Amino acid sequence: MWWEDAVVYQIYPRSFQDSDGDGVGDLRGISRRLDYLAWLGVDAFWLSPIYPSPLADFGYDVSDYTDVDPQQGSLDDVDALFAGAHERGLRVLLDLIPSHTSIEHPWFREHPDWYIWSPIDGPPNNWVAAFGGSTWSRDERSGRWYLHSFYPEQADLDWRNPEVVRAMQSVVRFWLDRGADGFRLDAIDRMVKDVELRDEPPAAVPFPLPLHPDAAVLDRRHSVGQPEVVDALRAIREAAGDALLVGEVFEPASGCARYLEVVDLVFSFELLFSPWEADQLRAAIEPAAELGRFAWVMSNHDFDRLATRVGPENLRAAAVLLLTLPGAAFVYQGDELGQPNGPGADPPYDRAGRDGLRHPLAWDASSSGGFTTGTPWLAVLEPAERNVESQRSDPASLLALYRRLLELRRRLGAGFQFVDSEPGVLAYERGDHVVAVNTTAKQREAPKGELLLTTHEGPELPPHAAQIVRK
Ligand code: NOJ
Repeated sequence: MWWEDAVVYQIYPRSFQDSDGDGVGDLRGISRRLDYLAWLGVDAFWLSPIYPSPLADFGYDVSDYTDVDPQQGSLDDVDALFAGAHERGLRVLLDLIPSHTSIEHPWFREHPDWYIWSPIDGPPNNWVAAFGGSTWSRDERSGRWYLHSFYPEQADLDWRNPEVVRAMQSVVRFWLDRGADGFRLDAIDRMVKDVELRDEPPAAVPFPLPLHPDAAVLDRRHSVGQPEVVDALRAIREAAGDALLVGEVFEPASGCARYLEVVDLVFSFELLFSPWEADQLRAAIEPAAELGRFAWVMSNHDFDRLATRVGPENLRAAAVLLLTLPGAAFVYQGDELGQPNGPGADPPYDRAGRDGLRHPLAWDASSSGGFTTGTPWLAVLEPAERNVESQRSDPASLLALYRRLLELRRRLGAGFQFVDSEPGVLAYERGDHVVAVNTTAKQREAPKGELLLTTHEGPELPPHAAQIVRK
């Protein structure tokens, strides 16, 4: 399948390229920049949500699944974008949000039985939402309490209702008919809930991925990861045929096998959260690599940017790691330039504090970075320091390294195996190649073989460097 070792570039549409000067990125802007993606050498791109939305969760609160947010364009613009992408051999993934809609989606009023309601006048249990607080809110109009796994503006759909299943299947068909090549499926571990709405017991052991402190004290066995989720996903698969389905499952690899019965790939969150330390990286990678079909990912629009998480000194080695692991990898827009977290906005747009991860991409050194002719909705960070144009013409830039890796990764060969290495070095074989990643600030022994790529010049394996050799 085309996606098995694909590199997918994540576009955050509001922050990629504005075409009409309103300061918000849009679909025509993306069409204008397709040559950049083709030049970079990625196989596909994923668009974070483009649908109409009241923006309580910046598009993840959908009010119409089969249209486009007017700020981002129109269905005609989607057609043009898909055509432009396909002409260049790029595939397009949309973001599908099956577990919840905006409370402003007409379904919430027209089909209240498509949602999950408390059987009593108040929260029926102790469940906690992903951003903190109760998962239950009172609907002022009906006086009843509805369930929401995320913000109160995002009501959870009831996938036990066959009408919900059929409605979402027709959404899937709508976009595939228009030419989408697949979907990134949002929060699929939240699609189905315990039918009895039982209380969560206290957590006996800490959950291995970061949770909101309100949620971390509970063992989320009834509100997340129900076995019936596989049936719900099968219904999506039935509509999707062999289009790519990449699942967002907020679980370590050990909890992902059942999702992989239906979806093609799931994100490796253990890698995304791993400290930049060889043993911990290996512990994060090994179980996912064994299971296979993981999409390697090191940052996205929800969590710290790569430059901020691993530090600018490790960015080059992190690029080598991300793009030489076996299988598919996702690159979040701006990471290829080394964009760090920014200050966000004051007052903030996102109540969960994620604005700083979503600053626009800088295309050139001008004050708005070539992103917009107007006032950007979030500031463009230091465009004179870091932009596509200058890094494109500099063979020593991080962007040039990404491009080289995207080309080189195709020749690494099959197989994957960790090999012994000095402390602080992560080393593995891919075909007849060895990749060595030095996570320390000290020089280490270079891997043996013909040097194909080094991230830093110097003797042996320099501090913070990664190398690829042919044995
Ligand atoms: C995961 C998305 O990536 C995030 O941005 C969103 O807030 C939640 N799912 C809820 O849809």
